[in-house]
Amino acid sequence: MTSGTTETCLLNADPAALHERISAIKRQLGTRLLVLGHHYQAEEVIRHSDITGDSFRLASLAAKNTEAEFIVFCGVHFMAESADILAQPHQRVILPDLGAGCSMADMANLDQVEVAWAHLGGAARVLPITYMNSSAAIKAFTGAHGGAVCTSSNAPRLMQWALDQRERLLFLPDQHLGRNTALKLGISLEDMAVWDPHALPEANLAAGCANARVVLWKGHCSVHAKFLPSHVDEMRAKHPGIHVIVHPECSMEVVAKADSSGSTERIIEKVAASPAGSSFAVGTEINLVARLARRFPDKLVVSLSGTQCLCSTMYRIDPRALVRVLEELVQGRVMNEIVVDEITAQNARKALERMLAFA
Ligand code: 13P
Ligand code: SF4
Repeated sequence: MTSGTTETCLLNADPAALHERISAIKRQLGTRLLVLGHHYQAEEVIRHSDITGDSFRLASLAAKNTEAEFIVFCGVHFMAESADILAQPHQRVILPDLGAGCSMADMANLDQVEVAWAHLGGAARVLPITYMNSSAAIKAFTGAHGGAVCTSSNAPRLMQWALDQRERLLFLPDQHLGRNTALKLGISLEDMAVWDPHALPEANLAAGCANARVVLWKGHCSVHAKFLPSHVDEMRAKHPGIHVIVHPECSMEVVAKADSSGSTERIIEKVAASPAGSSFAVGTEINLVARLARRFPDKLVVSLSGTQCLCSTMYRIDPRALVRVLEELVQGRVMNEIVVDEITAQNARKALERMLAFA
């Protein structure tokens, strides 16, 4: 079948037909193929995943699978890059839609980080920690300067590790995860400052970055930024006794009002471990919240916000995108391959391996 014919068939295919086409190719490729699915993927995609998880679980389990020739990552670009960095040379990583990026990861580029680094005092004073949600170039910068990657499941341990080694740390690129984690470790807001890559370095230094123990990069997740403290008040008024659990990419004001916070994996564990009849308002991406509501019909699980907080780039991975890359694979063609150049990969691997060593 030519690519043009495949495209026409895809446009006309109904959900059941797409499901069957994906299942058939998975059966055909067997263990040559590994499909990974992040918790924010839609149901019709995640049901085809061999492994589901948060970014930490997916990175560590993908690194352990040395058998699959093709790793199809149903997630976003930085996740596929990390998988490629940790993969064996014979493994090829595929992102079903190359437009599946992350606006937070795009908020820190290497030139900006190098400017900040030089003004903050460099390796003599600072250790970089970057959230998984960053480009391979930022991970490589972090690895080359002795730092590590963290995810929302292990950020406190990695931040403590950094502070035990150097006077101060630069946390990239999510100011909210950085601030929430530092507060958890008992660091006061007075010991933190925000580095704005769009402001003059002198202005950042004057605003507290010259001496702050924790320098937070001015980045955020546009999905989690939609959750507001007023949503917590409204939810408690509507459902007295409801447990509010939020992702640490939410602002510190939202986290402070919530009953608990944690990575996507932690949120799932918390809801799963609760007794029947429990109720949860969850501050994270809508696909995960909706999945929890379906999985636990004996519990009330609702989104913390009335509006639907959907990650539009995660949502670009749909069954059509998945069929397209899988049918190319069957034809012997690798489409949408994610390849990190070897120099970048070497340094980024150091930062990722330092994180994995904490597991
Ligand atoms: P985790 O899956 O690590 O909790 O991260 C959430 C997220 O925003 C992924 O992009
Ligand atoms: Fe990026 Fe936020 Fe989407 Fe995660 S949910 S991929 S951090 S934009």
